[in-house]
Amino acid sequence: MKKIVQLMIMVTLGLTATSCYKDALPEAPMPANVSYQKDVQTIFNRNCIGCHKVGNTSPNLVDGSSYASLTTLPAPPAEQEILVTKGDAAGSILFQAMTGNGAPQMPPNGKLSATKLAIVEKWINDGALNN
Ligand code: HEC
Repeated sequence: MKKIVQLMIMVTLGLTATSCYKDALPEAPMPANVSYQKDVQTIFNRNCIGCHKVGNTSPNLVDGSSYASLTTLPAPPAEQEILVTKGDAAGSILFQAMTGNGAPQMPPNGKLSATKLAIVEKWINDGALNN
């Protein structure tokens, strides 16, 4: 019985240590050249498409549809605004939403990391290419 309790304590400590270690890992660094497909879409896949998909909340940020959703005027009844202004992150509704600056905070449960925000900012400021 004593052995089992000891084992349980060791497993608990081990799991705690592993999860702390994970949290302490540094984020992937900022890429020198931002790729829409590799960098920006990955952020959408991980943080946005649970809500932003066909038949759900607009804009549709699913791979293959997201670029058109962000750079062209949406079909009614969606809000009639282009969400990305090429070359102007600060003036783009997408970036304003992600920084909680003038648009509802996206994702709603809190800002993404500074690196992820910097990736989106650089992508827009570099011309918002579909690269
Ligand atoms: C939990 C669900 C949810 C998640 C996750 C989420 N959104 Fe949203 N998003 C919404 C809802 C709901 C709206 C409409 C809110 C409103 O207009 O007040 C919205 C609206 C938006 C808009 C339009 C804002 C405007 O003013 O027109 C943008 C752009 C947006 N989201 C981007 C994102 C991005 C980028 C992510 C991921 C980083 C994200 N959202 C994650 C639910 C979500």
